[in-house]
Amino acid sequence: MKLLVTGGAGYIGSVVAELARDAGHDVVVIDDLRSGNRAAVPDGCPLVVGSVGDPSALEQCFTLGPYDAVLHLAAEAAIEASVTNPSVYFQANLTDGLTLLDTMRAHGVQRMVFSSTAAIYGEPQRVPIDEGHPQQPINAYGESKLMFETCLRWYHRAYGLRSVSFRYFNAAGATDARGEDRRDETHLLPLVLDAAAGRRPPLQVFGLDYQTPDGTCVRDYVHVVDIARAHLVALGRVDDLGCTFLNIGSESGHSVRQVIDTVESVLARPVPWVPAARRAGDPATLVASASRLREQLGWSPAHTDLRVIVESAWTWRERHPLGYLR
Ligand code: UFG
Repeated sequence: MKLLVTGGAGYIGSVVAELARDAGHDVVVIDDLRSGNRAAVPDGCPLVVGSVGDPSALEQCFTLGPYDAVLHLAAEAAIEASVTNPSVYFQANLTDGLTLLDTMRAHGVQRMVFSSTAAIYGEPQRVPIDEGHPQQPINAYGESKLMFETCLRWYHRAYGLRSVSFRYFNAAGATDARGEDRRDETHLLPLVLDAAAGRRPPLQVFGLDYQTPDGTCVRDYVHVVDIARAHLVALGRVDDLGCTFLNIGSESGHSVRQVIDTVESVLARPVPWVPAARRAGDPATLVASASRLREQLGWSPAHTDLRVIVESAWTWRERHPLGYLR
């Protein structure tokens, strides 16, 4: 297939582009490089530098088509910043996304795989979280993604756009060539690894008084390669699925303390950390039910062991101590 991957210079987008290219698809990437890395874009995938909200950048992309599908991963994705500065999130994740949808429509592109998030659910009322769980986001990031899902429902009904929205839980891990490297890192695993390696100050553990077994937040860490694989499976099924919303998670929860313990065990060195106040917008526990994904797409995660996820992230970080060498 001929594919447009938005956000293909970002952490998850670049891995999706890599696996899609390796599976024989013809991939074009658009990324504004605000948080992505040029060097993360796989060889053989032309890069258009620009925002999906910029009609001229999109026109440049679409002249490289025609596309069979768009994989839309470009987004603003820092939860805490979305609470303090929601304007950026609604602009990037909703308004810019609509510009993309309307450009697709103008060019007759009728398939999308969309990168949504577990943050649409808000504070869990039951765990594991299935797709029917109430959707009451507690941060503007989750709200903006939920609003875009709503747009996809209406575009399906009115214009026949077919889409699969994947509600990611916590992406983690790396391929041999691509890993997590953001300008302003806020995600747990890269910060823990860098703290252990002495490249950053001690990790701040945000909150030790949550209603969880050890008091720290519990998350569902899912290997980025498993996420990317789900995208490739979805491409082959999007025509039958119509407009579908699916969780991607490994269905097991690990606390911040357990992540630290696993990193200490894999690296055989201590992780310096200090207690810190809770971070705004953090629910205590987020663990997926991915049964709908298993049933509808026949997907199951290949890398469920947190140790394997940590090992892959550490291997990449050791090979790229300065990230993509900006
Ligand atoms: N954490 C710390 N210290 C840090 C960084 C994180 O204690 O320095 C804690 C957080 O409080 C949270 C956990 O580690 O409890 C994981 O935090 P991340 O920032 O790595 O990830 P989030 O759970 O906040 O968010 C991620 C993605 C979102 C997605 C969400 C879904 O970034 O896009 O998972 O579960 F919506």
